Amino acid sequence: MYQIETIQGDITKVRTDCIVNAANTWLHGGGGVDGAIHRAAGPVLGDACAEYVREHGLLPTGQVMHTGGGHIPVKGIIHAVGPVYREHLPDESDRLLQACYRNALVLAESLQYGSIAFPNISTGVYGFPKDRAAEVVCSGLHTWQTENWTFVRRVILVCFDDVNLAFYQKSCS
Ligand code: APR
Repeated sequence: MYQIETIQGDITKVRTDCIVNAANTWLHGGGGVDGAIHRAAGPVLGDACAEYVREHGLLPTGQVMHTGGGHIPVKGIIHAVGPVYREHLPDESDRLLQACYRNALVLAESLQYGSIAFPNISTGVYGFPKDRAAEVVCSGLHTWQTENWTFVRRVILVCFDDVNLAFYQKSCS
């Protein structure tokens, strides 16, 4: 069983085994949290992502991969590609968003990480309504919480803005 915590802040500054990046399918840093993580990690992160795409191709929506943390003091970074809300029917967007969180949890467990911090994936540039995302994410995290997690003990939801913080404090409490 893992504990779910909601905090406000900059995910690049959170003390945790791993942080999750809201990436794009090409895995090249963009704006938002992707840009913040790539800036904090340094160019080594961009090199690792480019190497991944050369070997494995684009990362599909809902899927995840991991790299080292570069200059960010974490054991690793898990990159997740969230759904672009307007590109899918709402229920499919919900499913793909949950897939990002569940696949990241499963990957963190396989890497024996004890704690994982998530940004509010898809709720920025990708246009996922913040209130709906909070409900979808918290519903998934609560459903999976009692599964047999050996290593993952802390799930930290890092909200950058007040609006998301209020929605997650309501939905994940
Ligand atoms: N720490 C935590 N959260 C952050 C930070 C940060 N330093 N910076 C931004 N955020 C928040 C935003 O406020 C938003 O709530 O991350 C959430 C996700 O927004 P985006 O970063 O825009 O990510 P997303 O909506 O998933 O769009 C992904 O944007 O940056 C590009 O390359 C990225 O193409 C991809 C797309």
